[in-house]
Amino acid sequence: MPDDPGPRPAISLHGLTREFRGRGTPLWALDGVSLEVAPGEIFGIVGRSGAGKSTLLRCVNLLERPDSGRVTVLGQEITSLDEAALRGARRGIGMVFQHFNLLSARTVAGNIAFPLEIAGVPKAEREARVAELLPLVGLEERRDYYPAQLSGGQKQRVGIARALASRPRILLCDEATSALDPETTEEILSLIRSIRDRLDLTVLLITHEMAVVKAICDRVAVMEAGRVIEEGRVFDVFTRPAHATTRRFVSEVIGHVVPPGTVARLPDANPGEERRLLQVLFAGPSSTRAVVSEASRRYGLDLNIVSGRIDAIGAEPYGLMALAAYGPPAAIAEATAWMRALGLDVTEIGEDPA
Ligand SMILES: Nc1ncnc2c1ncn2[C@@H]1O[C@H](COP(=O)(O)OP(=O)(O)OP(=O)(O)O)[C@@H](O)[C@H]1O
Ligand SMILES: [Mg+2]
Repeated sequence: MPDDPGPRPAISLHGLTREFRGRGTPLWALDGVSLEVAPGEIFGIVGRSGAGKSTLLRCVNLLERPDSGRVTVLGQEITSLDEAALRGARRGIGMVFQHFNLLSARTVAGNIAFPLEIAGVPKAEREARVAELLPLVGLEERRDYYPAQLSGGQKQRVGIARALASRPRILLCDEATSALDPETTEEILSLIRSIRDRLDLTVLLITHEMAVVKAICDRVAVMEAGRVIEEGRVFDVFTRPAHATTRRFVSEVIGHVVPPGTVARLPDANPGEERRLLQVLFAGPSSTRAVVSEASRRYGLDLNIVSGRIDAIGAEPYGLMALAAYGPPAAIAEATAWMRALGLDVTEIGEDPA
């Protein structure tokens, strides 16, 4: 097969480690993390509290220095730069925070202009840039307001505009919507997506909410104890989570296939036959109902649809269905194989899902 290296990654993290020494045993906040984020991608990092997500994100602009490993951003290995060169590289990386981190004594315009002042950008140029950014984040009317006069969503819009002030190619978001209500979260997420599209940004975001990942990410990595335990396209990770931790995260949004209490209401199998619970996943539009009745006819099984749901991740529809199959074990196995051959993803599930 010919080697296709693909486009150069926007962010490439290689073998990052970071140890914190507290009073007790040393703690590996990062225990060998490697990741690549493609240009233009919105890449999500999820994991429980303490998994190392913020430490990882802060390594991308070297707010946190890894003990070992390489950080390459837009083709430049920033872990080997001196301080002056690093300051330059950092201007290409914007960052958005959970608690906004606005200066309360400055107006909206003053907050957005702040990083440009630090960078020594002349006043006229700063003002021109602020005038471009205000409409981009929908805050023209709030130009001269102070943070205390803004809602949480408006504060985060200021945070985003400030992060974009120096025309970065990369945007890092650490729990950017975690302090916001669900409706405002949606607004901010669609703002992030629209600026990604319009400004051709690459976005690396941390969240503890799988709903955020489902809403805007293209790919996702799941972290646990300083390691990436699973990564892939959001659609694949959500529909076929490999790791138990990922399955728990995913079930927050996908839900349980078999509603609690369902199994207790199912009839028992006839003597000599068995009852098996099957989870059937299909990607894309598919007439599973027809497949089910055909499988039932071909293999002489009684197949009951216990539950089913159709949803979409991004533009990709998928369906998830639970079947109670009654019949001789061999016939159930053959029907399962037949459905798999048709491209359905069939797994046997325990009768008592937690
Ligand atoms: N400056 C520090 N000094 C000591 N320990 C630290 C420091 N920063 C992070 N840690 C520890 O490293 C581990 C990873 O922390 P990190 O903040 O990256 O987790 P996180 O995944 O972002 O968690 P959360 O979801 O709560 O924000 C934690 O156990 C944390 O206590
Ligand atoms: Mg964190």
